[in-house]
Order: sequence, then C-alpha cells, then structure tokens
Amino acid sequence: MIIRASTSGRGMEEWMIEGNGSLVVVGTGIRTTEHLTGNAIAWIKASDKVLYVVADLVAERVIKELSPSAESLTVLYGEGKPRGETYHAMVDRILDSVRGGHRTCVVLYGHPGVFAYPGHLAIERARDEGYPATMLPAISAEDCLFADLGIDPGHQGMQSYEASHFVLHRKRIDPTTALVLWQIGSFGDNTYRREGASNHKLPFLVARLCEEYPADHAVTIYEAAIYIGCAPRIERLRLGKLAEARVTPASTLYIPPVRKSRIDPATASWLGFEPADR
Ligand SMILES: C[S@@+](CC[C@H](N)C(=O)[O-])C[C@H]1O[C@@H](n2cnc3c(N)ncnc32)[C@H](O)[C@@H]1O
Repeated sequence: MIIRASTSGRGMEEWMIEGNGSLVVVGTGIRTTEHLTGNAIAWIKASDKVLYVVADLVAERVIKELSPSAESLTVLYGEGKPRGETYHAMVDRILDSVRGGHRTCVVLYGHPGVFAYPGHLAIERARDEGYPATMLPAISAEDCLFADLGIDPGHQGMQSYEASHFVLHRKRIDPTTALVLWQIGSFGDNTYRREGASNHKLPFLVARLCEEYPADHAVTIYEAAIYIGCAPRIERLRLGKLAEARVTPASTLYIPPVRKSRIDPATASWLGFEPADR
C-alpha cells in the first residue's frame, strides 16, 4: 500500500511503502505553532512511527495531535548521564524502528540538523544499511537570532560554535566577524542536568574570550520566544559580567565584531574591484 500526502519537493511515495523501513528527520522550528512547515506536518501524519525530542509542552501537544502514538525520546536522558551516551541510545532506538519496517519520522526542535547530532547520525546509519533516509530543513535558534537582533551574517561574516567545543579546541577568534556561541548554559559539562548546569565554569569561557575582546565589549544573551506573542530575551551586558548573568539551557551568546576588517588592496586590484564596490 502506498500512502500519499500533500508535500512539496522530493515525493514521499517511494518512502512510504508499507513494511519497508524508512527515516525522515524533521524540525519543529523554535515556535512550533508558527514554524512547523506543511511538509513536516505531512510526514508526521503519514509515518507509522513518530519519535520526538522537543523543548516545550506546546510542541509536544502539536506532535501528539498529529500522531497520537508518537513517543518522546527524552526518557533516554538521565540525570548526570553523558549527553553523548544518550544521543547514541536515541540513534539505536531510531534504527530499531527503521529496521522493524516502520516508516519512521523523527521530530527534533529547531532545525533538526543544527547542533543536533542524533538526526545526522541516524540518517547516516540508516543509509549505510540501505534504508531511504532524509532530513528536512527548519528554523533554528540562530535564524531567530538574526531576525530578533537584526543581524545579517553576510555583512561582516560570522563564526558559530558550541561553547565548550570552542574553548576545548581553542578555536581561532576573528574579532572582525560576529561570534555566536551555543549551549553556554551547559558550558564545561557534557552531562544532562534537568535544571541546567550550575554555570560555575563560565568564568573560564569569559577568560578565553577576554584574550581577544575587551572586558567591556557589549555582548548579548539571547533566548528566542518559544510561544507566539511572547517577547524574546535580549539581555545586553559587558563581556566581563557574563559569568554573573542568568544563563539557561536556552541561552545563546552573541558577540558582535570588535572592529572592522580592512580590504586587501592587492587582492582588490587583482579582482578589478573599484573602491565603490568594496
Ligand atoms: C542542542 S542545541 C539545539 C539547537 C536546535 N536544533 C536549533 O536548531 O536551534 C541547544 C542550544 O540551542 C540554542 N537554543 C535553543 N533554544 C533556544 C532559544 N529559544 N533561543 C536561543 N537559543 C536557543 C541554545 O544555545 C541551546 O543551548
């Protein structure tokens, strides 16, 4: 039997043959009722196994309305358990469903492939085992940040890192571009905490940033609104005060460039750019 659902882009039909396992990973966006796309809705409704990880009750309710038998994967988190272990357990659970012949739809919050490791890994493993697997794009926290803070990453360029990774790998900072740091609320802690991390390691992050930026550089703690009609949290503060600020699991740090970059005259003349084009 072939299920047809109204969708754009690549047809669902070939993925929807009953008894053949398949995998589609979709995102809710940040404000589910506003951001969930028609295409994602169609896949959720047409799949016979829906597994999800979302961050709020409205998102959970919307998914349950579309697929009453949908199951949350958040039960796999454990207090103090390394998040990497949980992600692997999620991937195993997803693959079990696909191998069991289920047309499986995984729903993750935000963009399902942005700072969200299990979706990519599940797709890779499903494809390796010969199952059709794909991901649909969705609205991430960073997309909301661009809109709410009025930032165009094309203007002066942008770097974007997970905060602990950024420090652990001593990533090079270019102070002429914007810097976005994700997961500052779990900085230096790779385990899951229901209440969020204690943030007592944040001074370490601040010290690293202060190697490149002045301590009085104005930065922004950003939290996109997750419900329609609510305002985002946009808290501007001095970088040196970051460790004293309220930082939650939904906080993302935006650091604007500290100075402008200069055009390299030799390159400009080689490319034939007039001063006005630069
Ligand atoms: C595991 S990542 C998930 C990102 C998600 N897949 C996305 O597309 O936005 C979690 C991090 O995303 C960022 N984030 C999640 N919700 C957010 C929100 N409402 N506002 C700002 N940043 C958010 C924070 O940096 C948080 O620590």
